[in-house]
Amino acid sequence: MTTRKIILFESRAARARSLERVLESLADVVAVPSLSGAARQALDDPEAAILVAVVGPLDEPAARLLSGLKKARPDLSIIAGTRPSDFLTAVEMISAGGLDGAFSPDDVPGAFTAVRSEIQKKDLEERRLSASRTLRRLKVERARSDEQRRELEEIYETTLENLMTAMDIRDIETFGHSQTVAKYAEALARRLGDRDDGKLENLRKGALLHDIGKIAIPDAILNKPGPLSPEEWDKVRLHPTLGYGLIREIKLVPEIGNIILYHHERYDGTGYPHGLAGGEIPREARIFAVADALDAITAHRPYRKPRDMAAARKEILRNSGTHFDPRAVDAFCSIDLGEWEKIRFETTKQIPFTEDFFRLFRKVKK
Ligand SMILES: [Fe+2]
Ligand SMILES: [Fe+2]
Repeated sequence: MTTRKIILFESRAARARSLERVLESLADVVAVPSLSGAARQALDDPEAAILVAVVGPLDEPAARLLSGLKKARPDLSIIAGTRPSDFLTAVEMISAGGLDGAFSPDDVPGAFTAVRSEIQKKDLEERRLSASRTLRRLKVERARSDEQRRELEEIYETTLENLMTAMDIRDIETFGHSQTVAKYAEALARRLGDRDDGKLENLRKGALLHDIGKIAIPDAILNKPGPLSPEEWDKVRLHPTLGYGLIREIKLVPEIGNIILYHHERYDGTGYPHGLAGGEIPREARIFAVADALDAITAHRPYRKPRDMAAARKEILRNSGTHFDPRAVDAFCSIDLGEWEKIRFETTKQIPFTEDFFRLFRKVKK
């Protein structure tokens, strides 16, 4: 709260002292022996908040002086001690805004009450002003933080894209896999009734990042041409947990983390890392598992020939209820194979110069 002073004018010394004593409990009091001196003091001192002036008769000169002072310093409260016979004039002045209160010259409690209520009014006003200042500041801060959030989102998107590129470049055999499974997963989710753009976007991001943990798996294992040893498999099986740990720090939405962490869980509980079963596996991870398998079966791999969509459908159907959630499999089967072909064609053609890239990559890796 601001420091406030009460400027006091009372020509009778004994009265002035007793008024001063009483008013001191409310704020600092500066007693001035003349009315004009008190007015000047009130005008000059920015801490002067209230003028208590015992004018006696509220005659023309006194009224003019007080009204003039009020005009010059509208924030100053002026309380006049005046004769009861002048109360009507005082009330008129209060109505006109030239005065804030009046009391009988000998009514010390009346003066105290009037000053106290002025101080309360000022406190309230100050609180209101400070609240509205805080509100304005908050609005500005919110606008600023909205702006920062947008910037962060942009950085986050770029980081995401870079992480995926890093992963795709590293794992040559699955180059483009994440883009394709993201589209497959979206098609499945839409068939299962998902319409929420935010949710679909999270599913897409989760799909794009699902194998991000493979960044931590040594090259010798990840790109090993022959079959993996049991110890090597143990390491590969860590990639969902590693990936989850990696992105958890960026505080991603849960759906994205769920796909990364649970995309190798199986519907019958025989998957990893936690061996969750059925509905324990988050829905987005169950949907994603079908999309992931579809691309794994149909995509080109150097160690085996790609199988066509019809073979993929057979394989996925065969694993309905064991590996996959039957509802996700039903959704998959209800979409024409031609549609899946189309999605596959659309996403793989977006990857530029795939063959050139592969050649270049192999050269670097040699
Ligand atoms: Fe994986
Ligand atoms: Fe995958």
